[in-house]
Amino acid sequence: MGTITSTLTTTLLFLTTLALAESPAGTPRINSISYSGSGCPQTQARFSGSLDDPTLTFNHFAIEYPNTVNRTANCQVHMQAQGVSAGWQVSVKDTFVDGHVTLDPGATLDYFSTVYFSSSADDAATSKGQLANDGSSRIDKAVTLQNHFTDKAWSSCTTSSNDGFGILNINFRGALRNEKSYFEATSETWDFEWRRC
Ligand SMILES: *[C@@H]1O[C@H](CO)[C@@H](O)[C@H](O)[C@H]1NC(C)=O
Repeated sequence: MGTITSTLTTTLLFLTTLALAESPAGTPRINSISYSGSGCPQTQARFSGSLDDPTLTFNHFAIEYPNTVNRTANCQVHMQAQGVSAGWQVSVKDTFVDGHVTLDPGATLDYFSTVYFSSSADDAATSKGQLANDGSSRIDKAVTLQNHFTDKAWSSCTTSSNDGFGILNINFRGALRNEKSYFEATSETWDFEWRRC
């Protein structure tokens, strides 16, 4: 009896999750992607995967403190997709950057993701995160830096059956301060959210 109840509960949870994670009919696919910034010169980063499973792999996205020229670096991605059915909007829900950080006591890594659509650049959304070493020994570890968007930038509403969502821009920036430190980003990925409009 207990097993049946828990199986039912699991099934219901699964169905609820499916209902909440709405996505448009059709097969939205990326038809243009480029990137720029000190962390990802066009020839030094590589994109793979699809809209459901995107990965940008960096070649040398590295910053260090103290250093006046490279204590901060950024990578901005410009993306267009097509094949979205009519009546949908998309936004970026989370960005995730994998990397490695070394922070002496007192050092701080600030990281920011900014998302906007070129058609409405005034409606940019920014999410900030921070990794600070408040302890007395050096931090030296692999990290996944997540930027979650509570306030989101939404695309305009698609109007035809094979529409695109315009030019989506996602900028990630990292900055070190206070004490000796180093950060290297190895790859980045994004989670999208769709809604009807
Ligand atoms: C920062 O710039 C200096 C001077 O150009 C260079 O020697 C160093 O390797 C750079 N650091 C990183 C982490 O790329």
